[in-house]
Amino acid sequence: MGSIRQLKLGAFMRPVSIHTGAWRYPGAWPDANFNLTRLKYLVQRLEEARFDAFFMADHLAVLNMPMAALRRSHTVTSFEPFTLLSALSQCTSRIGLVATASTTFDEPYHIARRFASLDHLSEGRAGWNIVTTSNPDAARNFGRDSHVPHDQRYTRAREFYDVVTGLWDSWADDAFVRDVAGGDFFDPERLHVLAHRGPSLSVQGPLNIARPVQGWPVIVQAGASEPGRQLAAETAEVVFTSVPSLAEGQRFYADVKGRMAAAGRHPDHLKILPGAFVVLGQTDEEARATRSRLDSLVHMDSGMAALSIALGHDASGFDLDGPLPEVPPSNESKSGQERVIALARRENLTVRQLAQRLAGYGGLAFVGSVRTVADEMERWLKEEGADGFNIMFPWLPGGLDVFVEQLVPELQRRGIFRTEYEGTTLRENLGLPRPGNRFFPAD
Ligand SMILES: Cc1cc2nc3c(=O)[nH]c(=O)nc-3n(C[C@H](O)[C@H](O)[C@H](O)COP(=O)(O)O)c2cc1C
Repeated sequence: MGSIRQLKLGAFMRPVSIHTGAWRYPGAWPDANFNLTRLKYLVQRLEEARFDAFFMADHLAVLNMPMAALRRSHTVTSFEPFTLLSALSQCTSRIGLVATASTTFDEPYHIARRFASLDHLSEGRAGWNIVTTSNPDAARNFGRDSHVPHDQRYTRAREFYDVVTGLWDSWADDAFVRDVAGGDFFDPERLHVLAHRGPSLSVQGPLNIARPVQGWPVIVQAGASEPGRQLAAETAEVVFTSVPSLAEGQRFYADVKGRMAAAGRHPDHLKILPGAFVVLGQTDEEARATRSRLDSLVHMDSGMAALSIALGHDASGFDLDGPLPEVPPSNESKSGQERVIALARRENLTVRQLAQRLAGYGGLAFVGSVRTVADEMERWLKEEGADGFNIMFPWLPGGLDVFVEQLVPELQRRGIFRTEYEGTTLRENLGLPRPGNRFFPAD
């Protein structure tokens, strides 16, 4: 018999929290976005608690909201993730460092270099969250008038993955012989030139960085549309997903893992981590009151903007006290739009109620006592809704402190979370194999 399956925990690190009202919460750190001292505290606390990864999302434009809403949001700006994670790699030694990078607005050579560098700097703790970028404003920051269509973004993303992983395999693990006596720094037989010519990309190679410590940094994916799921099944080792309920989590889990065999992969080699917003209290009522207090700090201008973004459609003309009207399909985030429509229908919410919910945090939330939340997490793990969670803290640092001081020990007591890291690399801790080098199979 194998040992008990354990949760994998990532921290979804909006440094002030993902919740729009969080910066106004008593005791919160409204200045955390650009305050390295605060960020060091957060990452070190997460490492003490044995979290798998610190995940830094990235967006290539300020959020596409009207100024009336933007001015209320602490999520309007954040560090460029590689610079931040490089700094944080030097004050931690075990926690994984995952950054988002876009396959639509970046080049594979750049991305391969950055992640290879971060993997070396962190001694094997880097992960790449592959996104195709849904915000159309990003296009205008990269020399385009309009966004690339959804299907084209995913076609490029798939080829992009092949190129980046091919570049990481440029050098055999033992290519750098550094033969001082003979004068050979590397062995040319152990170097592969990719010479990729494909429909979307043309990249010569080789990469000018040694093979990453992990072989390849861990591949993460966060899209949930049909092409997003297929990309995940073929390439991802971790999936961040946004599912609103255990039943939908189970469907997503079975669907994506079920596609893996056809891609020649084992389902254990992909960890599915739904995002979960966790609000704890001494009792369930206290936790619910905390969440209401947080939501009450969200301005209604933010509510309407969040609704428009989620729908990919301007909601400002909607009747606030009526039900959500029909909206046309979105080119921006298909799965996001479907989720919001389903939420409104399922809970019979008015436009106003929906807007308030979404602007605070509209996704999966575990709100309750330590026992209630631990029960929920255990259920998701045992009933194959998740392999773990990507945790969103309601405000920082208080929401994180209570999580690591009270919930983590309870999960450990139940045997469903580690008490010590299994290894030194992110792959080892996630239980993922180190990929062989496709050009030098013995590595
Ligand atoms: C947990 C999570 C984290 C995400 N992080 C980012 C991010 O950092 N940057 C980004 O542009 N999109 C991010 N996304 C959005 C997804 O990459 C994707 O664009 C979105 O889920 C729509 O995907 P789809 O078009 O396949 O439905 C994230 C999504 C989730 C669920």
